[in-house]
Amino acid sequence: MKSNIYSILVFAIGLTISYLISIQLTQEENLQQQESIKTEGKTISFNIRDSIENNAEQIQLLVNRWHSIDDINENWQADIDALIRINQFIKTIKLFPLIAEAQFDLPDHALITSDNEMGRKRQLRARNHLPMDSAEVISSFIYASRASYSPDNDMEMELNLQFPIVIDEVLIAYVEVPLNINKLLRYKLDTYQITNYFALSENGIPLFSFLPEKMHINKITEQFTLSIYGQDWELMIWSIASPHEKDLFIILTILISFLAAISVKLLTLNIVLYKKDIDNNDQLKRVDDECKSSQAKLIQSNKLASLGEIAAGIAHEINQPLQVICIHTDMCMDNLSSGNYHLVENSFKAIMTQSERIEKIVKQVGSFGRDSELDNYQKENPNDIFNNVISIVINQYKQDQVELRQVIPPSLPLLFCNKTQIEQVLINLLINARDSVETSEKKVVFFKAHVQDHNLYIQVSDSGTGIDPNKVNDIFTPFYTTKPLGKGTGLGLSISYSIIHQHKGEIKVSSEIGHGSIFTVILPFEKRTVTRI
Ligand SMILES: Nc1ncnc2c1ncn2[C@@H]1O[C@H](COP(=O)(O)OP(=O)(O)OP(=O)(O)O)[C@@H](O)[C@H]1O
Ligand SMILES: [Mg+2]
Repeated sequence: MKSNIYSILVFAIGLTISYLISIQLTQEENLQQQESIKTEGKTISFNIRDSIENNAEQIQLLVNRWHSIDDINENWQADIDALIRINQFIKTIKLFPLIAEAQFDLPDHALITSDNEMGRKRQLRARNHLPMDSAEVISSFIYASRASYSPDNDMEMELNLQFPIVIDEVLIAYVEVPLNINKLLRYKLDTYQITNYFALSENGIPLFSFLPEKMHINKITEQFTLSIYGQDWELMIWSIASPHEKDLFIILTILISFLAAISVKLLTLNIVLYKKDIDNNDQLKRVDDECKSSQAKLIQSNKLASLGEIAAGIAHEINQPLQVICIHTDMCMDNLSSGNYHLVENSFKAIMTQSERIEKIVKQVGSFGRDSELDNYQKENPNDIFNNVISIVINQYKQDQVELRQVIPPSLPLLFCNKTQIEQVLINLLINARDSVETSEKKVVFFKAHVQDHNLYIQVSDSGTGIDPNKVNDIFTPFYTTKPLGKGTGLGLSISYSIIHQHKGEIKVSSEIGHGSIFTVILPFEKRTVTRI
């Protein structure tokens, strides 16, 4: 749940940052574009005027060649043909006479004339921007009428350039040349690179526009006024929007925010999992601790059960010295009353010896019965362990008339171990061996030890029943027992296995039905890291 909130928060922060940066970018971009269209507007204005002026100058050169009406009459057609041939933006040239038309020997279509007064007036009205008086006119001045649609193509706009012809200080006519503005500007567009869009108009009437239909333009515009021979043209220039870059940026930041949100989600999930892991580890540790504690309790129970098994033997072992003590106490009483004091001393000595014997037995049983958890791993003499074990079980053996044969070297290297636990293993093996020979004819159990390859080998072999080969793998399983209810718990071998394993050792068995079994415990002498149970 928390991870979702964090991710949404990160996503929202990402979007806000993206929004703020995009605003900042837009502002910067707008400023740049404003600058760019200003510069470009100047360039476009200059180019439009320059190209119109170039054309006008070309015509002016032609007009300047005519110094008389005869010059005009003679050269008109040839000059015009030459001009039209070299200038693609001019289709025709006409003369607007201000003196008697008859003086001009020109084809009809070259003259702007009118048959009636009204027509003439209209023609003059259309030219009211032109001086009609010689005194006002400047001969080399170029005028221009308002732009109008071409009579041939109503999609094309034409600018009528007008050149006064002054002969002998008399203004005799205007040469009028319609310049195809659209054609001229289209040509110009091809020759110089324009990155922004523009439109040209005169008093709100569109003259030309460079505004591709499907292209996107933004709101940034700049307006220029362009004066063309007395006519004011408006140049409107737009900046080309660059939505892709910004869009790309926004998409990118949204994507990054999204990825960041996902990362946060994963991170928080990881942390949660990590925490859960820690919790699980704690739980595992608790379970492990509980397991260890249960195992320790099991070991203890097994030991107490073993003690129960051998209790009869121990009782017998204590009973014997007790009887001796009783006999000697009686003897003491008799000897004291009869005055045989020298014999009392002997009795006391015997009582002392037997008491020490009992004390020894009690000590051994007591030390075996104590919780092995309390014992530390330390270097122990294996012979001490063997002696303790044998003294605990020997009476049981004797009682059951089982012969215990020992093959133990008189001295062995010290063994790093938990003494009580190893004693417990050996007692388990010896009790199992005794049980196995219970019904055998030959009741012999061997207890052997030897050193080999830095290991202590302890072997308990019997001439007992042996183990069914199919069951050999089960005997180390907890609670597996073939003994009658109340006799065996089925824990002896499984606990022995875990104790030996904990000592980094091994416990092996080989057995033959009817012939007996050999249990071998291998314990390393080297001090290794041991696992406490
Ligand atoms: N020396 C042996 N000869 C034959 N069978 C054996 C011998 N040692 C163990 N077993 C078999 O393995 C089983 C398991 O032994 P384990 O010592 O674990 O339990 P247990 O002796 O039955 O009970 P307890 O918990 O009292 O030891 C025995 O019941 C027996 O069937
Ligand atoms: Mg057993």
